[in-house]
Amino acid sequence: MTAAPPVLEVRGLTKRYLGLTAVAELSYQVEAGSIVGLIGPNGSGKSTSIDCISGFQGVDAGEWFLDGKPLHGLRAHRIARLGLTRTFQTVRAYDELSLLENLCVAAQETDGSGWIASLRRSAEVREKEARAAARGQALLESVGLAHYAQAPAAILSYGQRKLLAIAASMMAHPRVVILDEPVAGVNPTMVRHIESVIRQLNAEGVTLVIVEHNVDFIMNLCNRVVVLESGRKIADGPPGLIRSDPRVLAAYLGQARAKALASASH
Ligand SMILES: Nc1ncnc2c1ncn2[C@@H]1O[C@H](COP(=O)(O)OP(=O)(O)OP(=O)(O)O)[C@@H](O)[C@H]1O
Ligand SMILES: [Mg+2]
Repeated sequence: MTAAPPVLEVRGLTKRYLGLTAVAELSYQVEAGSIVGLIGPNGSGKSTSIDCISGFQGVDAGEWFLDGKPLHGLRAHRIARLGLTRTFQTVRAYDELSLLENLCVAAQETDGSGWIASLRRSAEVREKEARAAARGQALLESVGLAHYAQAPAAILSYGQRKLLAIAASMMAHPRVVILDEPVAGVNPTMVRHIESVIRQLNAEGVTLVIVEHNVDFIMNLCNRVVVLESGRKIADGPPGLIRSDPRVLAAYLGQARAKALASASH
């Protein structure tokens, strides 16, 4: 029996900032229907790699494919339309807009038709808006924010903003969603809720890549874990093996030791 082709395949991704190689020849594959964790110390290139794959940053080298279709060289909204979306480490929301409006804006951003088309208010645009509103309402229900649908995003707690961002990433009916630190700075009850939302999305067929510093969260949720250190992949495997991988332990211990030394010297 041949293995199913990966839904996402990254080959040789390299990104440099002046003298710094933030991501170095990163390659990995994501199986359809899986949840893959992407971990590594601060500054190891996790967010940069996501920015590149999702089309928010140019790259120095590398190719990546969604269901075998090349995504490299495409802009973010094209990549989103083809089925790969992401959330941002720093949550973004339009505070003065309602939750539902925030989701409709997200749909329009990936739609690529923009505000000029909206100005024309053609029947087609109105129909698209109605579809986006219905999708937005359904997603707010699935993340548990439906009662705030008409409220401005300004009233949301930090954890609720993370949920809104997850809902926004789902507006384009993606095949793959990359979440950058979905539970960082969130209280334990909300962490459990976000975990259940992620599991539910996965059960509905969405493949996920999750960047997190909360290692327990990742080990519990993910089928496979990719570990970066200084832009390079140092491990890739099931959580059980990653936990005891000497290179991974050294990368994390190294950082903890450096932090301890830094605080001791103050
Ligand atoms: N726009 C930029 N210009 C220059 N250097 C950058 C830029 N963005 C990131 N870097 C550098 O690239 C490296 C990787 O950063 P990145 O944000 O991808 O790390 P990360 O693994 O997401 O870290 P964290 O866990 O802290 O979010 C770091 O050394 C960072 O300082
Ligand atoms: Mg980051």
